[in-house]
Amino acid sequence: MPDDLAERTAVAPIVDPAHAQAHPTRDGYLQAVAQARRAAAAYYAGEQALLDDAEYDALYARIVASEREHPQWRAADSPTAVVGTASGDVEHSSPMLSIGNVFNSEGLRDWAAKLEKTLGRPVTRYTVEPKIDGLAIAVRYTEGRLALIATRGSGHTGEDVTSQARLVAGLPARLPAPVTIEIRGEVYMTDADFAKGCDLRLAHGEPVFANPRSAAAGSLRAQRVYDVPLSFMAYAAYGVPAEHAHSHSATIEHLGTLGIATTAQSSAALTVCADIEEVTAAVAALGARRGDLGFGIDGVVVKADLTADQEQAGYSTRAPRWGIAYKFPADTRTTKLLRIDVQVGRTGVITPVAVLEPVQVGGVVVTSATLHNFADLQRRDVRPGDTVHIRRAGDVIPEITGAVHDARPADSAAYTPPDQCPRCAGDIDRSNQRWRCARGRACGEKATLLYYTSRDAMDIEGLGEKILDALLAAGHITDAADLYGLDVPTLAALDRLGTVSATNLVNSIAATRTRPLSRVLTGLGIRMTGRTLSRRIARHFGTMDAILAATPAEWEQVDGIGGERAAVISAELVEVAPLIAKLAAHGVNMTEPTGPAAAAAAAAAAADTDAPAGAALPLRRPDGSPMTVVVTGSVPGLTRNQGNEAVEELGGKSSGSVSPKTDFVVVGEGAGSKATKAADLGLPVLDADKFAQLLTAHRAGDHPTAVAILDTVLPRTAG
Ligand code: IVH
Repeated sequence: MPDDLAERTAVAPIVDPAHAQAHPTRDGYLQAVAQARRAAAAYYAGEQALLDDAEYDALYARIVASEREHPQWRAADSPTAVVGTASGDVEHSSPMLSIGNVFNSEGLRDWAAKLEKTLGRPVTRYTVEPKIDGLAIAVRYTEGRLALIATRGSGHTGEDVTSQARLVAGLPARLPAPVTIEIRGEVYMTDADFAKGCDLRLAHGEPVFANPRSAAAGSLRAQRVYDVPLSFMAYAAYGVPAEHAHSHSATIEHLGTLGIATTAQSSAALTVCADIEEVTAAVAALGARRGDLGFGIDGVVVKADLTADQEQAGYSTRAPRWGIAYKFPADTRTTKLLRIDVQVGRTGVITPVAVLEPVQVGGVVVTSATLHNFADLQRRDVRPGDTVHIRRAGDVIPEITGAVHDARPADSAAYTPPDQCPRCAGDIDRSNQRWRCARGRACGEKATLLYYTSRDAMDIEGLGEKILDALLAAGHITDAADLYGLDVPTLAALDRLGTVSATNLVNSIAATRTRPLSRVLTGLGIRMTGRTLSRRIARHFGTMDAILAATPAEWEQVDGIGGERAAVISAELVEVAPLIAKLAAHGVNMTEPTGPAAAAAAAAAAADTDAPAGAALPLRRPDGSPMTVVVTGSVPGLTRNQGNEAVEELGGKSSGSVSPKTDFVVVGEGAGSKATKAADLGLPVLDADKFAQLLTAHRAGDHPTAVAILDTVLPRTAG
């Protein structure tokens, strides 16, 4: 049942800007320049993006490469030569420049090395702050009153947006002191406001925003009857009193005291770093938290902190030498929506899921995305075949924020939602925004249970579809955990099941309590996992507790689990957590015998005197305490350390020395004095081959065989 998404290998190409190739002809170059100019004009005007960030960066990088190779080609209107487009009517007090880009830590180090060469000495210190994905504005306060807000425009002149922007959060109308100052920063939309804004738009019959950045751009310039909240964050200022102007960090701190929102107060606070090593670490730390900030960042800006350093480094024609933007992989891209699948969740919730042409978003290849619900899908008029905007923030499952309606194929047809439950063909309950199968949880119960009991998963012998049907119909079970509560009389009362079969079934269900974690995990039917991946996950983490506590970064350590899969698996685990707890309460094993944490878990359980007697662990005494076992000589297939781990895995305590307290000694080839001492003390001895068999039986969940092997040395454990 896990609808494993087939691995797709085709990936939409992204040109690594560091390896961009020059255009073969000047015509090609000029076309690229024109395309970049059109895209930049749309970008700065806040119109629908013609290119997504990664495409623009790649295009720009090729233009740079061409100009480097063929300086004579250079067009006067190259995006490398000019800043933005000329428009508007406010002249900036000084040009609003852009900033150079790097895309990896190597680029960052190169930039720092160049800067230090320019200075002829190390940079005193650096700052690292979020590169907010919004629009640059300049804000003038005169005598403490908000006087003018202008967009960046051409960089030299911008548009007066004072009336639209004066309610932007983070820009007080009056400052606590009558200062005259110009502040520069970014207007952006928080993730929460973006969601609200999209709903507002739909409610007004307008198409939704493509992403928070274009939402902010559109809202800043629009004259609307409704307000979509915008926010501001400052990253520079002019006219700051000298005592606060000696460094960037001091300036930003000063702005904070004036009540202005700054990069220092954000959830991705500005940090001061002593050297480029610290900078690299801070950049990585911010990158890891990218999805949790509550607003979009498209990178990190690194600056020389001291004003003296900045002044000495100066500017190139286009950008300052004292600062650089470290760009993260684009987290909004466009791709083609191949089809819309319909998924029925465990509780019967029916959701449309987008199947996409693979595309890199936020550094991860994305092949599917959530479409929220059918009403939303229809209102947004997203259709199979459309070019759609995809957004992925951190570990969040990617979402489709809208479709590029202009690029729609002529033969496209509106999407028709299902009229019956795709799983059980029953009625759909449409009374809520989230549609559900009218049978709710019951819709999926049987399929889920069948999967749990199947040979690939828990392999419960003698439990077929007919018995499951009867148990479900009688209300004896609703989930897999209820199976472990069944008794002989209940089963025997079922049609066609005698006492003998009922007893056998109770026993075979009980025997699955000791199945390894990988089988339990398989049986849960987690989306995007199958038997093999479940085994890999179980081995990697060792215990269910470790799996449930795994962070996105830890998930990605597992071979075969990328960001997309990790997000889906985590979300699924949250859904089945109650069932997992119920299974554990029924004594179902939640550790993987060969997992790294298994030995530790066994040891911890052994130390915990309150732990229930481990009936499934062969090396436990009837009171639940561990037997003490010494392994000497080699055990076939195991290293010395694994031999000791195996003792713990079996529920025992391994010891290095033989004493009268030793319960028995495992003797293998090459055993020495310990075997002699065991004989002297008259201790029971288990042959290493037998011990290996015991381990195999235990790992296979075959408790009777394990007990029988032990009985050959320790008749007292019989029973
Ligand atoms: S400093 C001289 N700091 O990114 C330019 N810019 O490509 C100094 N941005 O135009 C810019 N967050 O719109 C700076 N913390 C930050 C920023 C930031 C976003 C934008 C800004 C600028 C562009 C640079």
